Formats: sequence, C-alpha cells, structure tokens
Amino acid sequence: MKRKKAAAGVLCCLGILFLCACTQHQTKTSDRLYVGVACYDQRDTFLGELLNCFKEKMSDMESDDLKTIVTVRDAAGSQKTQDDQVKELIDAGCNVLCVNLVDRADPSEIIDLAREKEVPIIFFNREPVAEDLRQWDQLYYVGADAKESGVMQGEVAAEVIMSDSGIDRNRDGKIQYVVLEGEPGHQDAIIRTENAVETIRSKGISLEKLSNGIANWNRAQAQNRMQQLIAQYQNEIELVLANNDDMALGAIDAYVKLNRTEAGMPVFFGIDGTTDGLQAVVDSKLAGTVYNDKVGQADAMAKLAAALITGEGMDEIKYKNGKYIYVPYSKVTQENVGEYLRKSKK
Ligand code: GAL
Ligand code: CA
Repeated sequence: MKRKKAAAGVLCCLGILFLCACTQHQTKTSDRLYVGVACYDQRDTFLGELLNCFKEKMSDMESDDLKTIVTVRDAAGSQKTQDDQVKELIDAGCNVLCVNLVDRADPSEIIDLAREKEVPIIFFNREPVAEDLRQWDQLYYVGADAKESGVMQGEVAAEVIMSDSGIDRNRDGKIQYVVLEGEPGHQDAIIRTENAVETIRSKGISLEKLSNGIANWNRAQAQNRMQQLIAQYQNEIELVLANNDDMALGAIDAYVKLNRTEAGMPVFFGIDGTTDGLQAVVDSKLAGTVYNDKVGQADAMAKLAAALITGEGMDEIKYKNGKYIYVPYSKVTQENVGEYLRKSKK
C-alpha cells in the first residue's frame, strides 16, 4: 500500500515537472530571436563593418526575457548559393531573416521560401525593386538614400575645390575628373555618380569628365583601373570621385605605387566612412567622405527584428511607405572627422 502511494506521489511530481518544463519551453521559444543573416560577399569592407555592428546590437539586446542568436552565411557573390543558404537558415529554425541580396533584382526564390514558413525578411543594403517588396506583407528594407550620399559627396568636393585653387593644376579653369564606380545595377552606383557631378556643377564649378571605370566597390580592382587611367591621362587627372571609400583608397594606392608625391596627385573623395576611410581623411590622403551610418542601420535592423518577434516596439519604428527604413547619411570633412573616428572605435 505504502509503495503504491509513494509511486503515485512520484508520478504526480514527475507530471508537475513535465508540465513546468513544457510551459518554460514555450515561453523560451516565443522569446527567442534567432536571426539568419545572408550576406552577398563578406569580403566587402563596409558590409563586414555593418555586420560587426549588427552582432553587437543583437547581443546588447539580450536579456532574461529575450534570447538572441545570429548566424551569418556568406554567398561569396553567387545568388544560387545564397538561395541554398537561406533554405538552410530557415530549416535550422531562424525566425527572422536579414538578407543582403547578391542580385537585387532576383529575390523571388528567397521570398517564396520564407513565405512558406512564415519567416519575415529584412532586406538590407542592396535594395530590391519596389514591386518585389510588395510580394508579401512581411518584407522590409533597411538602408539609405543613394541620392542623398551623391549630393553630399558633391557638396564636400565643391567646398574643397573652391577653397584650393591649386586643385586646377593646369589652370584651365576646369576640373578634369574620373569616376570609380561600384557594381553596375546597384542602387548606390549610378545615382551617387550622377548626383555628385550635378551638385559640383550646381556650385558653379566647371567639370570635364576624362573617363570612368567600374571597380565593383573593391580596393584592388580600383587600384588596377586607376593604374590604367594614369597611363592614359598622365598628369591630367585633377579629381577622383569614387562611389565608396575602398575604391578611393585603391586609387590612392595606384599613385603611391608610382611613387607620386602629394603634389603630383589629384584630390580623392569617397563614401562610407569605413575605419580605413576615416583614417585616410585624418591623414589628409582622402579629402573627404560621406558617412554611411552602419551603426544606425545595424540598430534599425536589430530593433525591427526584435519587434517582429516580440510584437513590441513596432509602432515606434519610422517607416517610409510602411516597409522602408532609410538611415540618413552625413558629411565627413577634415574638420569633423575626429568625431566619427571616436564613434567607430567605440
Ligand atoms: C554600398 C557601400 C559599398 C558596398 C555596397 C555593397 O552602400 O557604399 O561600399 O558595401 O553597399 O552592397
Ligand atoms: Ca584643370
């Protein structure tokens, strides 16, 4: 009899324990933010820095009520690889995806995979076309306005050109320039170039385009392309407008390799404010840049991801057209670069 009672007691306790374990498990899954990040190419300097900021924001967000996990996959430039990686991330149990498309015109397979399992997607940095973002109501975009960065690069460059008559080295009243461009088809390539050039002209500066070269955001490719341009135009180039800092730094590398002194070099402008870009402004190698706010973008991605899972904070997010979050750019000059460097070293 005693034995039976004891056995019943044990069973009862086990039952309670089991129930507790279940409820505990349930709260845990609902408050677990597991973000799968798909990156187009992790060798890209700006993206590497943006992802570091994102991981930091996600771990800052962790609390007793919210557990956060981040898994990053690198597509190394292949959309097919990225599609497979997204499938794996969903199968592994991610409840939010952050996708940096390889081909920003080809997100359909990823959208279908995510919609089937109801995993929301935050696209970032490489903006899908508006029509694709309308395919499902759980699709968002975090990035920045390309036009704004082009205008700001033009303003920074115009100010430097107007304050230094020595930039017009052949004194013909015109500034001979070349452009180093990012990937063709990227929202930040053509738009940045057009707006930078137009803004400089709008300040009354006369520009003469010598050439342009595509260097896919990449420092080594920009160095190569610049070497060809120097061979072709010799000392004629007075201004280099690069769509990002890495390409501006690559152009400087080309001149350094030729042992050119500063007096024999054009002025260079970039966009991004990467750690190396900011340092080059401090060292007066880069005349100026535009800050692509990786901290702000990472913060917006992390807050949106958390809001999508917890349901809290969704109303505080400022969207454009219900789906877009554009984080503002800002101008980096010799005068204010110190502030940015401090921020990026934090
Ligand atoms: C741009 C950035 C580039 C490169 C590119 C990749 O916004 O300025 O440096 O990272 O994104 O998509
Ligand atoms: Ca000139």
